[in-house]
Amino acid sequence: MTRVITLGQFIIEKQADFPYAKGELSRLLRDIGIAAKIVNREVNKAGLMDILGKAGSTNIQGEQQQKLDLYADQQFIAALKSGGECCIVASEENEHIIRLDTDVSKNAKYIVAIDPLDGSSNIDVNVPVGTIFSIYRRKSNEGSPGLKDVMQKGTEQVAAGYIIYGSSTMLVYTTGRGVNGFTLDPSIGEFCLSHPNMQIPETGTIYSINEGNYVHFPQSVKDYIKYCQVEDTQTNRPYASRYIGSMVADLHRNLIKGGIFIYPVTSRAPSGKLRLVYECNPMAFLIEQAGGRATNGHQRILELDIHELHQRSPIFIGSKNMVEKAESFNLIQP
Ligand code: AHG
Ligand code: MN
Ligand code: MN
Ligand code: MN
Repeated sequence: MTRVITLGQFIIEKQADFPYAKGELSRLLRDIGIAAKIVNREVNKAGLMDILGKAGSTNIQGEQQQKLDLYADQQFIAALKSGGECCIVASEENEHIIRLDTDVSKNAKYIVAIDPLDGSSNIDVNVPVGTIFSIYRRKSNEGSPGLKDVMQKGTEQVAAGYIIYGSSTMLVYTTGRGVNGFTLDPSIGEFCLSHPNMQIPETGTIYSINEGNYVHFPQSVKDYIKYCQVEDTQTNRPYASRYIGSMVADLHRNLIKGGIFIYPVTSRAPSGKLRLVYECNPMAFLIEQAGGRATNGHQRILELDIHELHQRSPIFIGSKNMVEKAESFNLIQP
């Protein structure tokens, strides 16, 4: 019988890779896993409870908040607060950073940035949604931690990952030593290692972009889309177009099958739509760790300066060769 490795066991075993680690990061990852299970439980019974639909509020992104956006936000914050390893949480759903000021957490070493529910407009129609997380080490040793601890470049991330609440629920993460995926076994309530050392194919045959926005795209992006659609047997074109509208689900599929995911600048969203801190940086770290590439068209996502917490960025992310090809189309300088 093959040995089942749970997320908890895996995290503890991997701690040996970090000789000076005192277990705080391991505990933080464990806390995220626990919150993920709670959110998963609610997402799964969404159709049965009064948790579908809009909450009636608008977030700092100018989006209508869904009830599950708020529920997931609260669950992750509560888990991080009670875990005591995180001093600040920054969330897509909250305008300002949240200082966790319990006796233990105010001196904690880690910062967590989170998109509590990604693709939440899909929740009412039973399409996969996700959670994206990103972990930084606190920079300031003295005084209370603040915004500067959160606004670090993506290269400074110590861990990042996502949970996909799909046909099965998975947690996929990296601590900078490759990418590993765990599938939730509902019968035992544990995430079990199912996808060790995930690698994104160097090239693929899927492109993922909201083509309904075509008229708003820069000419370079229109040209790249045309390239994807032209017949060429050597490069297996035309490529398949696949777009779910949940970044986590679209990227998870492309990570496994190979492909490119694009959210460019548009005439209506001149800086792009996706958020650098909560979406682009964690996904860029993870995809690079799986052998892929992530750029804003001109610069590596992970090296972008952060000017404001909810900053947006265009993104071209996925299989290395496909992203490089897209970059050759003279993409607009954001
Ligand atoms: P969120 O639900 O966290 O606000 O994120 C939505 C994002 C992302 O998941 C998805 O890729 C993208 O928005 C879809 O945007 P369009 O509907 O403009 O294609
Ligand atoms: Mn949102
Ligand atoms: Mn999102
Ligand atoms: Mn979200």
